Amino acid sequence: MERTFVAIKPDGVKRGLIGKIITRFEEKSYKIVALKMMNVTDKIAAKHYEEHYGKPFYPELIDFITSGPIVAMIIEGRNVIKGVRHIVGSTRPDEADVGSIRADYSSYSTTNLIHASDCEESAERELHLYFDEKELCENYKTMFEIIINEHGGFKQ
Ligand code: PPS
Repeated sequence: MERTFVAIKPDGVKRGLIGKIITRFEEKSYKIVALKMMNVTDKIAAKHYEEHYGKPFYPELIDFITSGPIVAMIIEGRNVIKGVRHIVGSTRPDEADVGSIRADYSSYSTTNLIHASDCEESAERELHLYFDEKELCENYKTMFEIIINEHGGFKQ
């Protein structure tokens, strides 16, 4: 099953939006397989955003992600990378689709509440940057998995 890395950034934590954001993914029937609140060190921040090193916004990006705790998670599901990016919305909140997290709750590209991996390669790299494999909890079934796998889906 496909996995993606998601982080609620310091603005999302400080604004008390953790619950609202996680609810979006749970209601979509994605499975949360790892979850923790943590401070991002300069070292992790630099590794995470290394592809943006040298861009004008890079210092602001690093300052911001290390400015307070984040909530890091790994989410699993079919086509989850693309699906989560859709729920998150475009980087620039004023261009994000109405109904997406960024359109609904954010106004600036810096404080845009949430990060989500943009492709399979980034997802694998990022989830291993933030989590040890032993921190994953895949040994439970969501209601969705029970209905689909054990009762033959929604057919009567
Ligand atoms: S780019 O240049 O298209 O590759 O960059 P983009 O994908 O749009 O953004 C990469 C990450 O940088 C953040 N970003 C910013 N941070 C601070 N200030 C400004 N002006 C800014 N513009 C973009 C953006 O939110 C992306 O962070 P993540 O965590 O990946 O969403």
